Parts: sequence; C-alpha cells; structure tokens
Amino acid sequence: MMFRARRYRVFLVFATIFVLAFIHFARSREQSPSPIDRHPASFSPNSPAADTVDHQDSAPIAPPPSPPTPDLSSEQHSTEEVQDPTIETPADIRPSPSAEAPKPSSDAAVNEDEEESQSAPLRSKLGVQKQEALEVETPEATWPHPHWKKLPEHYPVASEDLIRLPTGQPKELPKLQADFKDESSADKMQRVQRLSAIKTTFERAWTGYKTSAMGHDEVRPLRGGYRDPFNGWGATLVDSLDTLWLMELKEEFSLAVDYIKTIDFTTTKKKEIPLFETVIRYLGGLLSAYDISGHKYDVLLEKAVELAEVLMGAFDTPNRMPGLFHRWAPVSMALPRRADKKAALAELGSLSVEFTRLAQLTKEDKYYDAIARVTNELEKFQDNTQLPGLWPLRIDASGCRKSQTHVDHEAPRGQSPAETPSSSAQSKPSSTMKALPTDAQSYEEFLEPRDSRSLHDDAQPAGYGGVSAQPYPNSESEYRASFEQQSPEAQCREGLTAFTGESEKYGLGALADSTYEYLPKEYMLLGGQNEQYRTMYEKAITAARERLVFQPMVKNNRDIRFLSTVSMPKDHGHVRTTYDGDHLSCFAGGMVAVGAKIFGIESDMELAHQLTDACVWAYESTKSGIMPEHFSLVPCKKGESCEWNETAYYKALDPNMQERLARAMARKEERRKKKEKEEALADAEGSGSKKKNSIGKRERGNWHVVANSDGKSAKKDEAEAEAENEDSDEDEKIPSHEEFATARIRNERLPPGITMLVNRKYLLRPEAIESVFIMFRLTGDEYWREKGWEMFEAVSKYTRTELANSEIDDVTVETPTMLDEMQSFWLAETLKYFYLLFSDPGVLSLDEYVLNTEAHPLRRPQY
Ligand SMILES: *[C@@H]1O[C@H](CO)[C@@H](O)[C@H](O)[C@H]1NC(C)=O
Repeated sequence: MMFRARRYRVFLVFATIFVLAFIHFARSREQSPSPIDRHPASFSPNSPAADTVDHQDSAPIAPPPSPPTPDLSSEQHSTEEVQDPTIETPADIRPSPSAEAPKPSSDAAVNEDEEESQSAPLRSKLGVQKQEALEVETPEATWPHPHWKKLPEHYPVASEDLIRLPTGQPKELPKLQADFKDESSADKMQRVQRLSAIKTTFERAWTGYKTSAMGHDEVRPLRGGYRDPFNGWGATLVDSLDTLWLMELKEEFSLAVDYIKTIDFTTTKKKEIPLFETVIRYLGGLLSAYDISGHKYDVLLEKAVELAEVLMGAFDTPNRMPGLFHRWAPVSMALPRRADKKAALAELGSLSVEFTRLAQLTKEDKYYDAIARVTNELEKFQDNTQLPGLWPLRIDASGCRKSQTHVDHEAPRGQSPAETPSSSAQSKPSSTMKALPTDAQSYEEFLEPRDSRSLHDDAQPAGYGGVSAQPYPNSESEYRASFEQQSPEAQCREGLTAFTGESEKYGLGALADSTYEYLPKEYMLLGGQNEQYRTMYEKAITAARERLVFQPMVKNNRDIRFLSTVSMPKDHGHVRTTYDGDHLSCFAGGMVAVGAKIFGIESDMELAHQLTDACVWAYESTKSGIMPEHFSLVPCKKGESCEWNETAYYKALDPNMQERLARAMARKEERRKKKEKEEALADAEGSGSKKKNSIGKRERGNWHVVANSDGKSAKKDEAEAEAENEDSDEDEKIPSHEEFATARIRNERLPPGITMLVNRKYLLRPEAIESVFIMFRLTGDEYWREKGWEMFEAVSKYTRTELANSEIDDVTVETPTMLDEMQSFWLAETLKYFYLLFSDPGVLSLDEYVLNTEAHPLRRPQY
C-alpha cells in the first residue's frame, strides 16, 4: 500500500511537471513575436530594457475596449499589475546610445552630447534618459501600492515667509497678435477645408485611444493596447481635454470629464512621480481644461488640487528645491530628502506657469512660493555660470555645495569619473558600461547598486561627494540621525550650482528648452508684475545670440539659423561647439518671437523668422517632408558670407581625408609586403597557407559607408569603413575624397547641407509647428500657413496607422517603419497647433492665453 502510493506519487510528480511544461510552452508560443512585434530600434536584443518592454507589450496586447465606466478603472489597474511582473530598470544601464551613433572624427561636429540630450528622448518631452526607466514597472511584491497622505513637512516655510503672488494691477503688455484682415471667401473655403482635415485626423487618433486605451497613458497605435509610462493616470486623456473643447467636440469633452472623476492621483504603481512631466501634462492639462471651458467643471480644478498636493511634497527639501523624481509614498515622505545633484535644467525651471496658475485660481500662495524659490535661485545663478546668461544643462540642486563660479569644484581631477566611486553614475554611463547580464540572477545583482547612483540620490543621506554604500539605513532613526548629524555647511541649504561632471554644457534645446521658454510666459501670466522674468530672459537671449546662434551652409543660401551646444571643460581646456539641428530646439523660433514683442526687442523678430524657417527647411529637406530628430550641419563663420560651397560640404563629409588616405595606403603596402612574404613561404613549403588567407575576403564588399534604415544614426565612420576594407581584396580601390563623400550622401541619404543624420526618427513632436503657428499669429504672414500645411500633409501621411498615428523610424525613406508609439503630445500639442494655425486667429488669442510647454492654454490676467 505504502509502496504503491509512493510510486503513484512519483508518477504524479512527473505528470504535473509535464502538464506545467506544456502550459509553459503553449504560453510562450502565444507570446512569440509577430512580424510587427518589434523592439524599438535602440534596444539591443539581450538588454533588460528590451525584455521588460517586451513583457509590457505582451500583457496588454488586446485589452477589451473598455467603456468609460467609472467603477472599472481601479480593477483594470489591478489586473494589469498582475500581468506585469517586470523590474524597475535604472536609466543608466540602458543600452549604449553611442552604439547607435558612431561618430566621425570631425572637429566641426562633435556629438558627444548626444547620449545625454538627443538620442534618448523616446519617452520624454525633454530627452532625459531617466524617463526610460519610468515605463518599466516596479516588482509589485515589494510595493504594496499605498495611498498618499498628508504628513507634516520636514522643512516647512512659515506662513509669514511665504512668497506671495503679486497683488497689484496687471500691466498692459504689448499686443502679441498681428492685426488680421478680413479674408476672401475663397481663402476662407480653403482654410476651413484644411481645418476640417486636421480635425478628422485628431478624431481618428482620439477614437483609437478611446477604444483601445481609454484611461491609460498612451495607445499603441499600430497593434492596439496601451502603455502606462506616466504613472498610469491617463496621460493622453488629460492631455487631450482642451483640444477636444477647442475642436468643439463637446460631447467627447464631457465624456472625458466624467472619466477624469475616476482618476486617483493619490496612488500609483510607481514609486516615483516625474515632477516635470506630471506638471506639464497632467496639471497643465487639468488647469487649461478648467480655464478654457469657462470654469464650469469644478472637478477639473479639484483634481488639479488633488494632484498638486501630492506634488508639493517634492519641494520639502532643506533648500526648497524640488526633487524631480518624487518619492511620494508615506514611507518615503516620512524621511527627509534633498533635491537632485544632477537635475535637468528644463525640469527644474519649467514648473512656474502651472503652479502660478493654480495659485491664482485657488488663491493659495504656497503654490506660487514653491516655484518662486526656484526662480530666485536661477536668478542668482545666472550670472555665475561658465557662460553667464545661460545655465548649464545639468544642475546640482541639492544645496549641498556653495553656489560658486566654475573655478573650483570638488570633483577629483586626473581621473575619469567612471573610475571615481562617488560619481560612477554621474559620468556618461553608456560607453563604459559593462555587458548587460542576461539571466535573472545577475540582473538582480546588477540592479542592486542602483540606489547609490546619482540619479536617485534625492533620498540619500550621504554627504556630498561621499560614498554611500548603504543608501537606505536599517531603521528610520538611523537615517534621521545620519541626516541631522552633519555639519552646518552640509545641511544643504545652498542654492543652485553646476553639476560636477567633466564639462558643463550649454544650449537651448534638449534638457534646457522650457526653462527659457517659461521666462516670457510666466511674465505674461503674472501680468508683467515681476521683472525678474524680463531680466532673466534678456540676459539669456543676449548670451544665446552671441554664443549659440549659427547659420548653417545650405543650398540656395537660405538665410536660416540653428542653435549650437557649447561644452565647457572644467579644466579650462578646449571649448567645444556642436553645430547640430534637432527637433526639440524648434520651439525657439516661437519663444524668440514672443520675447521680441513682449519685451520690445524689435530686432529679434528677424531671428525668430530665421530660427523657425530653419525647421521648415529641415522638413523640406527630406524625402518624406519631415524633419529628422537630430542631425549635424556645416556652420558658416559669423559675419562672413554663407554661400553654398560643394567643396566645403564634401570636406565636412570626409573631414580627415589625408589621414584616411594615408592609413589606407599604409595598410595596402603592408598587405602587399605580407603577400610577398607569404608567396615566398609558399614557394618554399608548398601552397597551404596562401589559400587560407584569401578565404572569406570576397564576402565583404569593397569599402563602403553603411546606412541602416532602422532609425538609428546610420553612419559607419571612416575608421569602421576602413576596418572592413582590411578584409577586402588587395587590389581594392581606395576611395578618393569625392567618391567617399558622394557615397556617404547616397548611402546615408543625406540631404544637402546635412553631414550626419544622428537620429532619423520622427516622434510626432510639436516644436516646429508650434513656432510656425506663433509666427503666423504674430506676423499674419500667410507664408507660415502654407509651410504649416505642407508639414501637416507629410506628417499625417507617413505616421498614419489603422488606429491612430505612430512614431516612425526614418524620415529619409518612402516606407518608414512604424514604432508603435504615440505620445500624448500628439493630441495635446502637435494637432492642436496645426488646428490653431488654420482656425480663426481670434480662437485662443495669444493676447488672452499663455500656452504651457505642453500647449495647454492658461488664461492671462485681463486689464
Ligand atoms: C569653398 O570651400 C573651400 C574649402 O573650404 C575653400 O578652399 C574655397 O575657397 C571655398 N570657395 C569659395 C568660393 O568660397
């Protein structure tokens, strides 16, 4: 009996294993990639990031179209959590962006900024790498999904110390919009047709979102389903509200408002809330919907307040600078924390407009106080940077270091940051990264040191520059003690200073943009009652005009301007300027135009035209009619003529021709000698070795420069091209300068004037049409409407999917690959700007509204 039972048990165990194995295989087959199931090009196949994204993909493949019934939403959340056992990924172990963008050894175009600024902006407005981590879920076992609750602040501002909203009479500011003449009926007919085409595109994409992803952050525009990279509160829903109203989709609007009632901003699956993205999309979206609908929907303001209360905790630091990745849960909030040591300038400086509007609407000065303190610190810092007038792209907001000029800093010298334990993650992470582990165990080990890395050190008690082996002490009291024991100067109540990297970078584009953009906008929102913003803008634009603006050499000598990025080494070494164009920087034309009018800088209107037209040029320069995300240009010398010069362009395409030829010659000579030697040997010994040497050589082509069509930067640089040469036939032809340059143009599909396509994607971004729209409203020049319409036709044609619109991988080809992502700004900004360009100029007049950096209109004070 006993014996038999045992035999049964063995049998049972085997049967169970068999059944489990069967189920496992059946499942994994279901999840095997379909043809459209592809990773974004920037992920390498064995990277954890790719894995986690894939898990996310497979979970929500085809969720039932969820009707917007209020009670469902919480349930959806919990089911998704179960399906989503993925792991939080620190930003700095993402695959190396430098791998996707080999660089030429050109002095003219140094693209070292790229991993930081332009090649990673897939998930964010800004191009901050950190964002990538946000779409990846936390293991739910360690995360019980608590609710936020109000706790006493560690560093409260006494009510008598609150910085209050200006209370005086708003000033009458210069009028922004041009005087528009009556249009002919033929003109009107065409305009209204275009308006309706744009509206149709919006309605399609909105419906796609609604049926496939309602209540979630984003729809997957190709295969359906959703993604939740922004805390899962429904980013697209909130972001689209005011566009619905604007396009007179009133029924959709009220349906959306009903859904808003069900959002619970006091909890989220993620441990961190990205402050900037949350403020511009959610807070901005709610406030603008409230403003634009005439304050009739109280729930919009109520939800804005609910969210803002959660976010205010981010400002509870010793120097009241906000922690940008806010650990909001009560268990985190119970502990004191500091602001980031490596904050993106844009994230720090672009909170003003939304919190100010909230303070105006609620009459609560604390919201204004929060951002006024940031402004004050930015103002103090502005004259003390390496490039006075501009702020570095990366700022130390921790308050642990005295604000000072660049001369002294605590970072060790003569040692690359990667070797310095205290700053291991502060250095450029990618190029020196060790190979990513593939199995779960090593992956976990890899993740462990994460919390001692700088991007997450807002809750870290270690003194500045010290190594914190144990960022989370065993007990709360231990933590508190370590925090409070520090010497007074380590209390971290200082202001802003430059992040201590190898060099400081300055620019107006990625990582910086909306901090500058918000200076005139905040000035207008405050009715001109705070001159800080005027002064700061004037200083910034003066510095930018002198140091950043450049004219690129392009065909037909079009008079356009782009903005360079300047890199100032800490050790006063060689200052490097990167002459690139990128889509994110296209907002600048509009900003300069607004600044010119509001602050009476008349001559800047020309610059605004040139900056905006540069982006129009970039759209026109490609096969699809869409601007690439990021590319390199040939700058002209200031004050000299900028005629198209084919010789100069070719030189930029093959900058080190002499060395290239010399190396190729040397190698050829070497091979010749080797061959002679071998032949001599072969004569002596027989013919074995000779054969071996020529096998496989023919498989490789002659020298070539390869363009991938996978959306990444395409160039194999010279060295790589040469490396391949090494294997090619001995009588191979060394490409002449001309041949090399023309081959690059052909293989990489380079538009004239562009020397490298650093990133070929179009991510549905709005910045170019934003400036075109502003230029039209401020000048009344029909030129902008014509250009804007061409942009719309191109963009809507190449991004269209069955459901909505998708990011694409390559704007230089006829049939780009759809990347199956649609960020919320497509509906919130891009299509809104297209629509406003063709609406009656009285609709959303820029004299009545100021648009936040997510295109959310906020009501300006009226006189
Ligand atoms: C064109 O560029 C080449 C190389 O930079 C230069 O030598 C030449 O003088 C230029 N030609 C003109 C007409 O400016």
